[in-house]
Amino acid sequence: MEEFNPYRISNVRALQVLDSRGDPTVEVVVTTEGGGIGRAIAPSGASKGKYEALEIRDGDLKLYRGRSVLRAVNNVNSIISQALRGMDSRNQRLIDRRLIEIDGTQNKSRLGANAIVATSLAVLKAAADTAEVPLFEYIGGVQARVLPIPMLNIINGGVHAGNELSIQEFMIVPVGADKFSEALRIAVEIYKVLRQYIKSRYGASAVNVGDEGGYAPPMKYTEEALEALMKSIEGAGYRAGSDVYLALDAAATQFYNEDKNRYLIDRRELTPDELLDYWVQIVEKYPILSIEDPFYEEDFKHFAELATRLKGKCIIVGDDLTVTNMGRVKAALAHGSIGGLIVKINQVGTFTEAADVVKYAQTNGIRTIVSHRSGDTEDPAIAHIAVGLSTPFIKTGAPARGERTAKYNELLRIEDYLAGEAIYAAKLIKI
Ligand code: PGA
Ligand code: ZN
Repeated sequence: MEEFNPYRISNVRALQVLDSRGDPTVEVVVTTEGGGIGRAIAPSGASKGKYEALEIRDGDLKLYRGRSVLRAVNNVNSIISQALRGMDSRNQRLIDRRLIEIDGTQNKSRLGANAIVATSLAVLKAAADTAEVPLFEYIGGVQARVLPIPMLNIINGGVHAGNELSIQEFMIVPVGADKFSEALRIAVEIYKVLRQYIKSRYGASAVNVGDEGGYAPPMKYTEEALEALMKSIEGAGYRAGSDVYLALDAAATQFYNEDKNRYLIDRRELTPDELLDYWVQIVEKYPILSIEDPFYEEDFKHFAELATRLKGKCIIVGDDLTVTNMGRVKAALAHGSIGGLIVKINQVGTFTEAADVVKYAQTNGIRTIVSHRSGDTEDPAIAHIAVGLSTPFIKTGAPARGERTAKYNELLRIEDYLAGEAIYAAKLIKI
């Protein structure tokens, strides 16, 4: 008889649930012999990078208009379940390697990145549950106590909203606080002032929100949104550029025309060099802490040129450029393209691969930002992952919509659990 091991995986089961856009997604439940349970749900992007691991959908138009994920669910219930049962849930690295091997493709398209990511995270949670420690502590050990700086996307544009804003995300970054909970309060106050501002200028229907909970007003120009943020920060009684910074996610692939090699932004067509000058101009005018994906996802060179031009003034962040993929992160570093990095577990597919990328980035002086997806769920895992891996930032939307507040509320719980021992990342790093 084999010795009893409470961490041994006894079952892996998947089912189809819904994400915040009403699209089907994969939930995986892992149980251990000691009675531990881990439940995780795969999120889904709208402005996905070309080099991301691939979520698979059934494409049967009679089911959820082609969006169902029953094949991915079935892959978990058959192939993955069989491969993982009996393994020690603490052996995350080995389990993730096995998932990669049984998938056997470069982009996880056979089993589906949605099946794999939900499994990988459910294993992590099941092991933590078996150990009876919070997930962040299981990941980061007793030292884990740094709460990330939230980057809150409070005006939505691009493919996340039905307005004309070219830039996808207009964020506020409340750094002038002693605690995470204070930072969140400041952000909420600004969010409410912004609501009034938008309502008075654009009418009541303009305060409807986009996919990530930010307002999606009928604005047309980048500077219209930046001005609105500046006014709201001041209106709430804070100083832009010291208490609170701005940040942008251009998601520029979405407004890039490859045939013409032009960017369609603010009703203008810009060459890459003109766009570069434009970014420099707006960083001179506004206190912008970081710009994510300022150029399309292949252009390591212009990223690097911009990073050089804005050195010490603004962090250039890779998302679609780097897709949480070690090879692409190394290429971005070799080119000098980025000072910051978006980390999305489902872009690469397993926790281990994402954690390795975080470690590599942190070792090389790159700021890491754990991030949600525009299609997300009530799963709060990324809050724990940010604290567990001590990433200085988290990006998880506006302080509205349940799938966004799930993460913020979990960070409040972690702060409370740490009972005065939590450190707000803004107190640790140089902004
Ligand atoms: P996505 O967008 O989740 O729709 O891909 C988020 C982002 O670009 O950061
Ligand atoms: Zn992005």
